[in-house]
Amino acid sequence: MKKLLTLVLALVMILALAAPAFADEVPNGEKPVIWFNRQPSNSTTGELDMDALTFNDKTYYVGFDAKQGAELQGQMIVDYLQAHGEGLDRNGDGIIGYVLCIGDIGHNDSIARTRGARKALGTAVPDAAQGKTEIETIDDVDPTAVGTNTDGSSAYVQDGAITIDGTEYIVRELASQEMKNNSGATWDAPTAGTTIGTWSASFGDQIDVVVSNNDGMGMAVFNAWSKDNNVPTFGYDANSDAVAAIADGYCGTISQNADVQAYLTLRVMRNALDDADIMTGISIPDAAGNVLSEDLFYYDEDTRCFYALNGAVTADNYESFLDATAPNAAFNNQLTEEDAPVKKVWLDIFNSTDNFLNATYLPQLENYDGILNLDVEYIKGDGQTEANITDRLANPSEYDGFAINMVKTDNAASYTSKLQ
Ligand code: BGC
Ligand code: CA
Repeated sequence: MKKLLTLVLALVMILALAAPAFADEVPNGEKPVIWFNRQPSNSTTGELDMDALTFNDKTYYVGFDAKQGAELQGQMIVDYLQAHGEGLDRNGDGIIGYVLCIGDIGHNDSIARTRGARKALGTAVPDAAQGKTEIETIDDVDPTAVGTNTDGSSAYVQDGAITIDGTEYIVRELASQEMKNNSGATWDAPTAGTTIGTWSASFGDQIDVVVSNNDGMGMAVFNAWSKDNNVPTFGYDANSDAVAAIADGYCGTISQNADVQAYLTLRVMRNALDDADIMTGISIPDAAGNVLSEDLFYYDEDTRCFYALNGAVTADNYESFLDATAPNAAFNNQLTEEDAPVKKVWLDIFNSTDNFLNATYLPQLENYDGILNLDVEYIKGDGQTEANITDRLANPSEYDGFAINMVKTDNAASYTSKLQ
């Protein structure tokens, strides 16, 4: 009996000693997961991947309002054309011909921008593949790439019409394609640079406008061709080089407020790690005074998605957007280590050569990681395969949270399976 008692006592003591050491060990599956830039979704239908978005109760997505931005880009282009009619129709054939650089045919942002441009320019047709028969919003527009359509016969677009200074023109999408390199990386700027060479060699005098789903590709086209040929070119992202090029004739871009998104990505991580109200330092000022003004973002509670809003950047206002990497003073105040002890975060950028993510988003993340006391390990992928990134998530137990930028929006499970 006495022996048993001693044994039990010894056991209790061992357990009591062992307990504190384990108390901090959060299972990987319960750690914060913040998806950003590529929203977990079906790359064909765009339907949100709710399994990924509700992986655990500390899972969120941070992006921007793709639809609002796409409509803004379309409007910006039309406004420009209306105001610059003279000489616009370069070959005088009565057609305003444009080419469109598509980023990734399976990425919501890219699909939205293709739709937004077509709707604004009047070249959109209903998305038959989704059973659409009329166009009410940009969601109804067929986003399929046409390849070449110099004769206007493609089924994926139609000829539109625009009246500029009393003259009516046909608007035609002469060509569009996904800019994907031979290894499979999408949104590929060098591919856009060589493609404009091919397009301009065969129908260059018909191209009156260049529309691009992002600035990386837009600037590649601008530098390779449209700058020298004075052809209006439009992009998206407001990267510093693109904004600077507005002084040299690049016509406009859209800011997706990367400062807001980068801050939100890390802020939501911080709040989830601290078990704090998820709106701390967002709509509720935190102890250091960080807060986001409500005209910059919104939160959809049902899908756990934060969206930054977009703004047009043109010759009228570009001077205040020249440094895309500058931190925003409204949410750049240092948290104390008592309020927010240092935590270790794993974060990946899907493609080490993506212009927006590397030139704009990453510097913005680096502005805010320190003030939020997050020790972030930045991993960069090759933009081609998920495995190239997930292989470097070999030891999730070393991290307190994960911020994930997927290669393909359908592939969330290849990350979450590493955490189970
Ligand atoms: C940006 C693109 C970028 C892509 C990467 C988009 O939101 O506009 O420039 O290549 O994200 O996922
Ligand atoms: Ca023309």
